[in-house]
Amino acid sequence: MGKKFHFVCQSCGHEIEGFDEWFGNNQSCPRCGGKHIHTVYHTPKEKLAELVKPNQKPDSLWHYFDFLPVENPENIVSDGEGVAPMRRWGFLERYARDRYGLDLKVYVNRNDYSPATGTFKDKGGSLAASVLKEHGIKEYVVASTGNTANAFAQYLAKAGISASIFVPKDSLRENFVHIGALGQKVFVVKGDYAYAKKLAAEYAKKYGILISIGNLDPLRLEAKKTTAFEMIRQLGKMPDVYIQAISGGTSPLALEKAFTDFEETGILGKIPRMIFIQGDRCDPQVQAWNKAKAAGFPEGWENDYPVIENPITLVPTLATGNPVLYPMLARLVKRTGGEYFSVKEEMAVDMARLAAYEVAVKIGPASAVGLLGYFEALKNNAIRDGETVFINIGEGVRRAVSFVEEVSYTTEQVTDLEDCHRFDRRKYRDFVWKPFVNY
Ligand SMILES: Cc1ncc(COP(=O)(O)O)c(C=O)c1O
Ligand SMILES: [Zn+2]
Repeated sequence: MGKKFHFVCQSCGHEIEGFDEWFGNNQSCPRCGGKHIHTVYHTPKEKLAELVKPNQKPDSLWHYFDFLPVENPENIVSDGEGVAPMRRWGFLERYARDRYGLDLKVYVNRNDYSPATGTFKDKGGSLAASVLKEHGIKEYVVASTGNTANAFAQYLAKAGISASIFVPKDSLRENFVHIGALGQKVFVVKGDYAYAKKLAAEYAKKYGILISIGNLDPLRLEAKKTTAFEMIRQLGKMPDVYIQAISGGTSPLALEKAFTDFEETGILGKIPRMIFIQGDRCDPQVQAWNKAKAAGFPEGWENDYPVIENPITLVPTLATGNPVLYPMLARLVKRTGGEYFSVKEEMAVDMARLAAYEVAVKIGPASAVGLLGYFEALKNNAIRDGETVFINIGEGVRRAVSFVEEVSYTTEQVTDLEDCHRFDRRKYRDFVWKPFVNY
């Protein structure tokens, strides 16, 4: 066994010593070939209670070193990720009060603050780079719709590791050019995300390179589970409702892992009701959920989901057309009494304008989808009076230049002073709220 942690195969219960064995066996269980492993730590669980005390001032994810799968702190590759502030957004609370008579506390996780790439994918990037460094690995392959691609490319660059990144052709160009600028490799694949994953897997196999094995990869799950720790540290207690724009489902499954790990300690409290949001142009999970719900969740309901090939969407970052983890995600939603909602992608720009107007925060398109989900959840009575709501927005706009251009609405070309009418931003209040008045 490793000193600090080991893995347990979720299919057959076989114990795997650590990454050397896991990587050496092509990231599969040596006994049954299973790909889903659970990371088990040898640190006493009670230690977490100390780490999440409100007086703690962590400077990164690595505050939770005892519960991350790296043995030697010298191998840590970090850039201040994983401790993004969680802020109350009064305009969302006022809206709930004025429109629905609900008294809510609404927190937004400001992952746009993450220093490396401005998304919540930095956590996975940091852990992956650290683990690969610890095991002397010099090359890695990732398929991603964009944000994971950037985070992994950047952290691996920092660790001197070559990253070959496969992105589908409709990924935001502004997103993937940053990878090339870092001197990491980008393959823009003529096809959708599912095809990018397939090609990445073939490339990794051909050259014998390690590849990120997707949403259940411990390198992603273990990093992202710390969001649950941060909720306790920053908010003092677990929120009642968790809202997130969902694509592959890493973040929610990582949270679920945290709750499973610490269940008997009571440190994290009760898992929130999970409300997952998809854009209406690529929402296979929402379609599947609505169908199952309408039919009263018949036997095997969770295995019945559509696959959308080559989705055409305004938010390519979220476009997982073949949601292979839907069965696990949907069971989580059902178990927590949650919901799935679809929102209009055309409204992402409206949402970004409203947030920027009200709290001076520029959000990216995928974050707009998550925030629109809050309005949708309210409309569908999925939030109750007195509850605390946590909205995990995953990104800012650092690389979404054309989206910001769409969001921007005050620019005017002028030639002389006559053209320059005096500006008063209060005049725009009705304009930014209009799409939401009758939401
Ligand atoms: C900004 C943003 N939000 C949400 C998601 C969805 O993440 P997941 O479904 O893996 O938790 C992603 C994933 O690419 C993202 O980049
Ligand atoms: Zn096994």
